[in-house]
Amino acid sequence: MIIPATPSSSSYCPFQTSMASSSSSSSSKKGRLNWYDPFLFTISIIFAFILFWTIYCFLIPNPNPNAFPISTTTIPHTTTTTKTKSNSTSTQTITGPSFYDNPSISYTTTSKITNWDTHRKAWLLSNPTLSKPLFMLTGSQSSPCRNPVGDHLLLKFYKNKADYCRLHNIDLFYNTVLLHPLMATYWAKIPLIRAAMIAHPEAEWFWWVDSDAAITDMDFFLPLHNWVSLNAGVFLIRNCQWSLDFMDAWASMGPQTPNYESWGKTLKAEFSDKLFSDSDDQSALVYLLLHEKRKWGEKIYLENEFYFEGYWLEIVGKFNKIEDKYLEIEKRSPELRKRKAEKVAADTNAAVRERYLREMKMRFGRDGWRRPFITHFTGCQPCSGDHNKMYSGENCWEGMLKALHFADDQVLRNYGFKHEKVVGNESATAATVRPLPFGFPATG
Ligand SMILES: *[C@@H]1O[C@H](CO)[C@@H](O)[C@H](O)[C@H]1NC(C)=O
Ligand SMILES: *[C@@H]1O[C@H](CO)[C@@H](O)[C@H](O)[C@H]1NC(C)=O
Repeated sequence: MIIPATPSSSSYCPFQTSMASSSSSSSSKKGRLNWYDPFLFTISIIFAFILFWTIYCFLIPNPNPNAFPISTTTIPHTTTTTKTKSNSTSTQTITGPSFYDNPSISYTTTSKITNWDTHRKAWLLSNPTLSKPLFMLTGSQSSPCRNPVGDHLLLKFYKNKADYCRLHNIDLFYNTVLLHPLMATYWAKIPLIRAAMIAHPEAEWFWWVDSDAAITDMDFFLPLHNWVSLNAGVFLIRNCQWSLDFMDAWASMGPQTPNYESWGKTLKAEFSDKLFSDSDDQSALVYLLLHEKRKWGEKIYLENEFYFEGYWLEIVGKFNKIEDKYLEIEKRSPELRKRKAEKVAADTNAAVRERYLREMKMRFGRDGWRRPFITHFTGCQPCSGDHNKMYSGENCWEGMLKALHFADDQVLRNYGFKHEKVVGNESATAATVRPLPFGFPATG
């Protein structure tokens, strides 16, 4: 289920640790997990039914600016209005004093931010039209991959996320540098998220996705209503003071602090079956939630409604059958078969498909036949090639391509094409597509 990256890997791969979970029963999971990785077994007991953790903020900024009470702490501004070049009246940016003019607010993790919610609210009041619900963050190391096909794979994983973001109108930032020189590997995302929160006050949520995770249901949109979820490999976190404080606490166990070694010992003692002695983001997170439950726990909501993040080995063998089931739905639905502009399809098809999925009682998770939202290739290490010894390199390679083609077919559908499957050779599948006949799949 969960395979942490070995921290000894010297290259900068900040995006390799993950806690994948599925909504499968804990009893069947225990044996498997134990076999895969005893350290993660501990975590899995704690979170047996948890797909992801949800964190509320103290202040939930309302995306509707008219609903904001006018705060007396709002920075008074004499505004300079700059109309953007396009004539679209909805994009108007106002430049005036804001938290950006405050020298004590820093992008780096070494200084603390206070009153972030107030600063952000004031900024949103000045820039109401820029507000956006979601922002995706991902990235990979700054140097070429050691695995000869690593960069090729990372490009495909990147394309997968770019496709999803285009379809759902989400901004995407791909990072390839260390924002804190000591916070490498799986710690690198913390300074990135922090800087991104300041760079994108318009964004309500940040969605971290590891570079080796593929989105395998292009329809699915995260139900963002009232939560933030958190696990170390793929998570959502809300843009607010609470999140900044939480990340400060989390980062305090990281390699940039003098306490890093002692944290490693503490965590190793806490999770006796933890495989390595360095402090890592995942166990630090679990430790925080266990020992500072009162401080953080009440803002954390546990959720397991859907297959937020799936472990690839459980999933890749199912893609063909899942695809057949979704094609069956399209055969029954003239609405889904209809050719549409990509934007229109992205806006309308998911709801139609959902009606059929419910009617057919298709469930999420290991025992269900819904498309998994995210397939995470934990342990495959596409960039370094140092895959976990319990898999073969071929399995990882074929599995990754399978997931990426499964996702790409959902995208290509609106361009009138589909991958031509070459059974047993995903590399060949990558290269060949066929045009879809009018009325597909009812017409074969
Ligand atoms: C913008 O609108 C003005 C008047 O409404 C018009 O004269 C101008 O050509 C428009 N510019 C663009 C780039 O559409
Ligand atoms: C798989 O397909 C690729 C690309 O078409 C080809 O180069 C390779 O030889 C094939 N491998 C096998 C085992 O058939």
